[in-house]
Amino acid sequence: MADKHGTIPHSNLHGDKAHHKVSQNSASSATDTQQTASLDPPHSAANIPDGQYSIQFTINRTPCNLNVTPNMILLDVLRHQLDLTGTKKGCDHGQCGACTIHVNGQPINSCLSLAIAHDGDEITTIEGLEQNGKLHPLQQAFLEHDAYQCGYCTSGQMMMALSVINDADIAEDDAAVREAMSGNICRCGAYKNILSAIQSARKEMKQA
Ligand code: FES
Ligand code: FES
Repeated sequence: MADKHGTIPHSNLHGDKAHHKVSQNSASSATDTQQTASLDPPHSAANIPDGQYSIQFTINRTPCNLNVTPNMILLDVLRHQLDLTGTKKGCDHGQCGACTIHVNGQPINSCLSLAIAHDGDEITTIEGLEQNGKLHPLQQAFLEHDAYQCGYCTSGQMMMALSVINDADIAEDDAAVREAMSGNICRCGAYKNILSAIQSARKEMKQA
């Protein structure tokens, strides 16, 4: 079992190195060529390679412009083009929830979504939860409740949990939360502590 305070789970809580990269870019750092390659100003039509299309969306509050082919999957674009590796690929078939992100405030399985369909959308990944160096209450609660073992499912769990907490149509009792979270699989079986973390974060968010 992985150290619950070790590298792998903690990196998933933050969204790995990608959080650092996007945050730097938000601060208009022009020194990292990899950042400017993915989050640079809009492409002109002349710069778009054959078979690709230019799309623009907001990713974790940062405008993003990139070229994609029509068959590129959003999860792969996030991980491989934007280096936002906090979002995980588990089943790649919409069955496990590891790839959960928010699009325009709604949770989706990014493994089932074409990137080209998201022109103009507002996307939030696990890297977007932390703000100004402060963990989101859900991230803090997952740490405090040891709500993971390997951490692979954790980013998807937290993105779905945030939607559950914010959805007024989902009751707040444990049974309703378990049902609402049932699409997010944890192979380590950390469900009990995940539920505790969600309910704890809910209280914290109400008081904020
Ligand atoms: S990787 Fe998307 S649901 Fe499993
Ligand atoms: S903590 Fe390992 S899969 Fe959930």
